[in-house]
Amino acid sequence: MNENGISREKLFHLLNNIKGTDTKYEKVLSSMCTYPHEVALKAHIQFIESNMGDPGLFTGTCELEQKVIQMLGELLHCSTASGYITTGGTESNIQAVRSMRNARRDVKDPNVIVPVSAHFSFDKVADISGIEIRKAQLDPTLKVYLPLVEELIDENTIGLVGIAGTTEFGQIDPIRQLSDIAIKKGLFLHVDAAFGGFVIPFLQRSYSSHAFDFDFELKGVTSITIDPHKMGLSTIPSGGLLFREREYLDNLRVHTPYLTISSQYSLTGTRSGAAVASTYAVMKHLGRSGYREIVQGCMNITTEFVSRARMAGFEPVIEPVMNIVSLIVPEPQRVRELLREEFGWHVSIARNPKSLRIVIMPHVTHENMELFLQDLVVVVDNMGSMEDVEM
Ligand SMILES: Cc1ncc(COP(=O)(O)O)c(C=O)c1O
Repeated sequence: MNENGISREKLFHLLNNIKGTDTKYEKVLSSMCTYPHEVALKAHIQFIESNMGDPGLFTGTCELEQKVIQMLGELLHCSTASGYITTGGTESNIQAVRSMRNARRDVKDPNVIVPVSAHFSFDKVADISGIEIRKAQLDPTLKVYLPLVEELIDENTIGLVGIAGTTEFGQIDPIRQLSDIAIKKGLFLHVDAAFGGFVIPFLQRSYSSHAFDFDFELKGVTSITIDPHKMGLSTIPSGGLLFREREYLDNLRVHTPYLTISSQYSLTGTRSGAAVASTYAVMKHLGRSGYREIVQGCMNITTEFVSRARMAGFEPVIEPVMNIVSLIVPEPQRVRELLREEFGWHVSIARNPKSLRIVIMPHVTHENMELFLQDLVVVVDNMGSMEDVEM
């Protein structure tokens, strides 16, 4: 820091220049975040100084958080769920496993079984907590393979994890069957719906289909991660962690001697009330019909894109379940680099099978996907002709 400050004009000129070097979302097909809804942004600024880490001082925001948890609970079929607004899916997953562990202090070397498709936040869980995270392989449709989950369970297993909307393929694990296993074996079942939580309830599906059941409607589900800062269109950092029973939230409490309250269950101390307000604002403003429209918009673009990609000779790894597509292309890493270098597109790579991962968030338009496909065809064709020259 310099001895003397700079003027506001200079400062914001500087910041503007720096922001100009960040990527705009329009050409981003790799992120699960997007522009927040305008009401979320406004509410965020309105509540910018409120600190949920000291709720005795911010009683209004604290009440608002309870309302958000109730709305999220209703969305997930449990209006009495307990929980709090976290910083995102990582914190929610860490805390869910911490709650399991605290409920089962009787187990000396606990393990938790997650699908191999689980987000890397579970590797952080293992690192922080020392709990063994056992990874179950998937079936050919990239859902966790249930016989392998059952095989991994032993007397030290304290919980299972299912993913409702995997990060790489958007697949939904068979949560109904995992719930049955959890009940049968007396295990905790955490569902990571960080992405899918604001998608699955708004997908069009036939009412007879239980394939997408994932929430507290299933009696074995103990806790759920759901991220408002992904498809919920809230501001970053807005995550959600919900427990069916209050006691699982209470498992996380530590004594807080010098605050306006005597205990705290969150992982972070100081915590953004702005995230609470922005999530409240966008959920109240959009309502279910608003989210349905947004999700259906993304799904229409996804379906259209996949059919056009097929016509161009690219198959998806699985038929998309939600607004995530992984395309089979030759040399995905090279294709990714060329798409960025030559056309400015940002896509990512799904690991297994290695493929081009594309997330169709609300900032993505039909026109942009059409352009993207044209650019993808050019890149892959050029790679083919380069190979011809090299041979
Ligand atoms: C399924 C899933 N869980 C957890 C996370 C982690 O969320 P965050 O980055 O908000 O911590 C992600 C992020 O992509 C995710 O896709």
